[in-house]
Amino acid sequence: MSADLSVQLAPGNRRGLRLANPVMTASGTFGYGTEYGQLFDIQKLGAIVCKGATLEPREGNPQPRLVETACGVVNSIGLQNIGVRALIKEKAPVWAKWRVPVIVNIAGETVEEYRRLAVALDGVKGVSALEVNISCPNVKAGGAAFGADPQCASEVTAAVRSASSLPVIVKLTPNTGDIAAVAKAVADAGADAISLVNSFKAMAIDVKTRRPSLGSITGGLSGPAIKPVALAMVYEVAGAVGVPVIGCGGISSAGDALEFIMAGASAVQVGSASFLNPRASLDVLEGLEEFMQAEKVKSLKELIGAARE
Ligand SMILES: Cc1cc2nc3c(=O)[nH]c(=O)nc-3n(C[C@H](O)[C@H](O)[C@H](O)COP(=O)(O)O)c2cc1C
Repeated sequence: MSADLSVQLAPGNRRGLRLANPVMTASGTFGYGTEYGQLFDIQKLGAIVCKGATLEPREGNPQPRLVETACGVVNSIGLQNIGVRALIKEKAPVWAKWRVPVIVNIAGETVEEYRRLAVALDGVKGVSALEVNISCPNVKAGGAAFGADPQCASEVTAAVRSASSLPVIVKLTPNTGDIAAVAKAVADAGADAISLVNSFKAMAIDVKTRRPSLGSITGGLSGPAIKPVALAMVYEVAGAVGVPVIGCGGISSAGDALEFIMAGASAVQVGSASFLNPRASLDVLEGLEEFMQAEKVKSLKELIGAARE
């Protein structure tokens, strides 16, 4: 008999958020999912998180917006996206036909913008949950500023919670002094689950031009370089809150995913790894299945938090 990899990420929500397996894609690294359908069977994934949506379309930050560093990448995309109206009109009808649930990542510059995004997406067929990005390091207003402070994080969460019947995942920034305090604040404000981490504020300098490599000077570091730091944060947050935690940060193999799960994550997100290997998320899932079979693990639940006991 094959192992049970299913996981419920919103046990407290009327609709719930049941995933067939714990492997998701990370926002901003997998487009709207539609782009990858030609490359592999994306319906096998646990969930797809789409690129961050804002109320109005955004062109993003000035170029260059991506620079490779040792074991990682620094990006300053700045939430380039088609805007929530186009997303509802063009993307959601496609998602509604999929087996894999799609989670819409949302970003605002004010609490009111987050609330309006939640209202707009409530009840839209094809949208299974919201991931509230209070952690973008690449925008001038909002973004990580909300996620760095427990009080602000709590206000955004409460506003989205009261505006939507969808499961609400809140995505945390690592760029804060006390991530467990922020996690507790958003859980208390009604988050069904917490995802972490977004990228770390970072920069690179081109020594030939003597200028910052990115058009917006700083950006966010992601990829294998951040994995051990993200893992420690997931371990800390999973010990601090009662809601499910979704681990993210440098995951590119089943071994990486297992570390996050054993640290206490109920699910994982694969991000920058998809740039190097578009089917990285499926490879992670298949590796997880192989591990469970080899180790005779019948249910994912046996592994969640195993390193904490
Ligand atoms: C190019 C790029 C764009 C991103 N866009 C978003 C976004 O729109 N919303 C968001 O919450 N996170 C965004 N992220 C952050 C990722 O979802 C993820 O949290 C981060 O990259 C860490 O995971 P990784 O090391 O596996 O890439 C983006 C990351 C990259 C590299």
